[in-house]
Amino acid sequence: MAETLNLFRYAHFAQLPEPYRDLGPGERAERIERARDCLGDSTLILGHNYQHEEIYELADFTGDSFSLSKRARDAEVENIVFCGVTFMAETADILTGGERNVIIPSREAACPMAGMAEMVQVRQAWDDLTQVLDPDEIVPVTYMNSYADLKAFTGRMDGAICTSSSADEIFEWALDSGRKILFMPDKHLGHNTAYDLGFRDEDWVKWNPWHPEFGGTSREAVEDARFILWDGMCQVHDRFSLEHVAGMRERYPDGEIIVHPECPREVVDAADFAGSTGQIIDFVHEAEDDTTIAIGTEKHLIEHLQRNTPEAKQVIQLCGDACLDCNAMRQIDPNYVTWVLEELVKGNVINRVRVDEEDREWSRVALDRMLEIGS
Ligand code: 13P
Ligand code: SF4
Repeated sequence: MAETLNLFRYAHFAQLPEPYRDLGPGERAERIERARDCLGDSTLILGHNYQHEEIYELADFTGDSFSLSKRARDAEVENIVFCGVTFMAETADILTGGERNVIIPSREAACPMAGMAEMVQVRQAWDDLTQVLDPDEIVPVTYMNSYADLKAFTGRMDGAICTSSSADEIFEWALDSGRKILFMPDKHLGHNTAYDLGFRDEDWVKWNPWHPEFGGTSREAVEDARFILWDGMCQVHDRFSLEHVAGMRERYPDGEIIVHPECPREVVDAADFAGSTGQIIDFVHEAEDDTTIAIGTEKHLIEHLQRNTPEAKQVIQLCGDACLDCNAMRQIDPNYVTWVLEELVKGNVINRVRVDEEDREWSRVALDRMLEIGS
């Protein structure tokens, strides 16, 4: 099959049936509870930390993408309802060997960053790079925020997947092998991780997959670099700037600023801490009373922390009202969750995410490497 650009992998969006469109919070809470009672232990609901309040509060387990993937792998259930984005549901299908019904309530929940490294572009980049380098000199390290075909490519090329909480350890593993790292698709996470490990500007080049000439860089620069950073990013995190950090420092000179490592390098550098969504939650839990903590990440997570943190600590958004919610995560509307659960009660599996056998096998190689190395 010819490879083409294909951002939405799940083209057949099942429309939410009419009777579910106008359910209010009270009615759907009751219906969800009833459906869960019927389904009992057969069904696990996983929720990413960026989900709506309603979903976050009803999920059996919430967490960052690393912890959710482990939960999915170890779940001895028939159905996993994954309230997150499609690459996370794909990962759950891969790690459960296709033996569970992994359901995403809405298939429109597609992370734009995952769509920024498409296989047709990655193959072109690999062909270009291996004109200059021996294939044994490069190792792909791919962010969890990617589709299964790229994860499979990573496995085939003896690379590994990482999440924001395991990136340091995976980069160290890759560097120990003496190879250059081709990191896809988030340039900021790649940049921040390399920087953490002591590398500086002369050690990386940026690869622009839309540039017609050798990724917009040169053969010499690639030969000299330790890292080739794919030019992708998350629009939610890319908008944080040094002005936001400076404004917060002025208003709260004793406050703490914590950000997600998908933020630009200068923002991470100016912050007090950067970590995955799970590590951000841990930081807030462990902070002393009377601390003001400004957080630079997707706004639902900050709202969960504002609701659930004792009043003695103040949790605020790093960029005030300008903080964004993630449009992909937002597609998981609670009415969709009601629908897929009630259909499961009737024995119908809606919106199951299935990765093809070969991609599943090779992605698993790259994911297992992450799970072995990452803590
Ligand atoms: P975490 O792995 O930190 O949960 O991040 C996932 C994500 O998509 C951040 O934008
Ligand atoms: Fe993707 Fe950014 Fe949303 Fe995370 S916050 S799922 S990286 S678009």
